[in-house]
Amino acid sequence: MIYLIRWLIGKLRRRATSPAEPLGAVPGRDEPAVHARGERFVTRRKAAASDANRDAPALSALGLGKRFGDRVAFDDVSFEIGHGEVFGFLGPNGAGKTTTVRTLGTLIAPTSGSATVAGIPLTPDNGVEIRRRISIMPESPGLYLRLSVAENLGCFADLYEAADPGDRVDRALRAVNLADRASDACGSLSKGLRQRVALARALLSDPQVLFLDEPTSGLDPVATRDVHELIAELRRSGVTIFLTTHRLEEAERLCDRVAILNTTLRTIGRPAELRDRLFAKTLTVRTLIPLPEPGRVFADLPAVDGWRQDGARDYVVAVSDPSLAAPAVTRALVQAGADVLSIGESHHSLEDVYLELVNEDEEARRR
Ligand SMILES: Nc1ncnc2c1ncn2[C@@H]1O[C@H](COP(=O)(O)OP(=O)(O)OP(=O)(O)O)[C@@H](O)[C@H]1O
Ligand SMILES: [Mg+2]
Repeated sequence: MIYLIRWLIGKLRRRATSPAEPLGAVPGRDEPAVHARGERFVTRRKAAASDANRDAPALSALGLGKRFGDRVAFDDVSFEIGHGEVFGFLGPNGAGKTTTVRTLGTLIAPTSGSATVAGIPLTPDNGVEIRRRISIMPESPGLYLRLSVAENLGCFADLYEAADPGDRVDRALRAVNLADRASDACGSLSKGLRQRVALARALLSDPQVLFLDEPTSGLDPVATRDVHELIAELRRSGVTIFLTTHRLEEAERLCDRVAILNTTLRTIGRPAELRDRLFAKTLTVRTLIPLPEPGRVFADLPAVDGWRQDGARDYVVAVSDPSLAAPAVTRALVQAGADVLSIGESHHSLEDVYLELVNEDEEARRR
């Protein structure tokens, strides 16, 4: 079977490099509308990371959208992503994340807007050039289940026309800690191990831009940590990473910036910026017994905008500048003779931001 697949690859490549002899489209979930026919697998030479396109953003979208008939998968999406940035793309099920990845990855054509990928305008004519510079780890691994791990990767290294496919495969397997499973059939691997093979496959071509669609879905905590380390390493080596995930702590830890998509883009920025944009800064005070006159304690303090009681002995104090307000609040509590158990700045997680925005959308939909 491996020989048959490799023979087919060779044939595809020979035909694809001959402009006079176009191939039929490769069957898939959708027809790859922006593919020049038969060019899907052509990666004749490695695109140098230092080419002229480095001046443009690694990825950009302007009013980008995709609909399938009446169904809008995503709409009016605009962003710019710098080289070497890890960009998190978050959103609920059906928000349009995978469709965005498939659109930017030249697998399907947008129905509105424009984009650049690896600095190259996303047009049907540029499909091959873009694909030479990117790699996609899709939601479902899509491996040849009867072939071994190494054979699967060997096939793809052939497709990428890697100079030394054996070495590439070995390096990719080591990167995902799968060297000891190289000769196992992919069909015999667990879900998480197949995910790792798919990640190894995405690394084979040394991409400038790497799309990872839920790369840690189904992975155990140790494998997840390994993938996180791998992403951090890729980032250090200058690879731009477009990461979709439902794991918000993963996004918070790994991503320079995140976008939250719910068909349209709800927000975009650094996780800390999003928190500040959405939530007022607060201090949380806990006392041993309830304060007899909290209004007097918290009144007229510098950088304190207001307060509310939260349960019997907890107080949430809205502040404009915690470094000014916290010492003032502490002094006021001590002067009032309060037994303070704790005082601290409240921290909102990226999950709080996400839930706030997605719940807002949910409520608007119900109205
Ligand atoms: N080929 C297709 N034909 C018709 N509708 C599609 C197609 N692909 C995606 N959609 C629809 O587009 C919307 C966005 O789907 P998409 O797979 O991009 O969501 P997602 O954000 O990746 O969700 P998840 O978190 O579940 O992976 C969904 O309503 C989906 O049903
Ligand atoms: Mg998806």
